[in-house]
Amino acid sequence: MIPVILAGGSGTRLWPLSRAAFPKQFLPLAGQLTMLQQTTARLQGMDIEQPIVVCSEDHRFLVAEQLRQQDIHAQILLEPCGRNTAPAIALAAMQALQRQPDNPILLVLAADHVIENTEAFQTAVASLLPAVRDGQFGTLGIVPTEAATGYGYLKAAEAQTSGLQCVEQFVEKPDAATAAHYVASGQYFWNSGMFMLRADRYLEALERFQPEMFAACALAMKDTCADMDFVRVDGDAFASSPSDSIDYAVMEPLTAGGNSPIVVAPLEAGWSDVGSWSALWEISDKDEHGNACLGSGADGHAILQDTHNSLVYAEQRLVATLGVDNLVVIDTPDAVLVAHKDKVQDVKNIVSQVRTQG
Ligand code: GDD
Ligand code: MG
Repeated sequence: MIPVILAGGSGTRLWPLSRAAFPKQFLPLAGQLTMLQQTTARLQGMDIEQPIVVCSEDHRFLVAEQLRQQDIHAQILLEPCGRNTAPAIALAAMQALQRQPDNPILLVLAADHVIENTEAFQTAVASLLPAVRDGQFGTLGIVPTEAATGYGYLKAAEAQTSGLQCVEQFVEKPDAATAAHYVASGQYFWNSGMFMLRADRYLEALERFQPEMFAACALAMKDTCADMDFVRVDGDAFASSPSDSIDYAVMEPLTAGGNSPIVVAPLEAGWSDVGSWSALWEISDKDEHGNACLGSGADGHAILQDTHNSLVYAEQRLVATLGVDNLVVIDTPDAVLVAHKDKVQDVKNIVSQVRTQG
């Protein structure tokens, strides 16, 4: 099994800490290790081969340095531009087939997830292996704890939270009412964005549903250039690929018309994709008033009075709050965010505005 770690996201909802030059997967948001390092550490003890990390050319030294700190020797596939996850996984699948022509199995992981219970994660992964060897598409489904709108959902054939089940439908990020209906039904899981796939099966499906994407990725991999652990693909060919996620480009079409070849292994392991400041607040240690103080300056540089259920991130300056609840305050050297905890999904709109103002 070859771990394929997707580390090319931009993490805009954690602005101003997560930036284009330093997105969240490279930050130690939950503990001492960065999110990327937690992803590789979680695989310890599993029967795996050399991992493939797929990331932006711009982050190659960040990735190489963070893996070096853990003594992990990975192949680092560099994307000249972002084309979302379906093409990123295609490059990794083609690279894996070059390395091991005999149907390698890929364990596709996001580089920015927190999973509290590593053992439960490893058990769920192992449970997918026989089905994936037989040519099915495996995914980990998170047993939902709320009607989250920041995640995609999978509809399983039955309402049960253990054992492999057939996936009937993929639904990307529903609205609040639909999400509430899904969770109440007991038949839906959160789409974890983690998949187990046979390289040949993934590429067959991609060629069938997204022929242009398949062709662009195949061309990009025809002319690769290796430089230390880095593998560079043909930039013009890759840039010509349509941009789409694996969820929309491959998983949804696979379920169409019944007879879905996708199976889900349920996972209850304290999972979060730390997709927003409120998600980070949820998983952080909190004081008796429900406040989480983070950042290197948090010990001495945050004073919270008459403040409840809030998140404060302080690096260098003193941050003080008084008489406020459900607030997020993020202080960084060149930007400060003050937001209501219920509005943090919209931080990406601020990032868009910052970008247009240059
Ligand atoms: N190499 C590479 N290239 N990686 C990418 C790219 C890309 O162009 N785009 C995103 N990624 C990586 C991100 O770094 C992250 O690790 C993962 O792929 C998922 O991308 P996100 O952009 O974070 O997706 P999302 O969180 O909005 O939604 C997906 O994940 C959710 C769970 O975390 C979907 O699969 C949802 O359905 C799912 O619930
Ligand atoms: Mg995400």
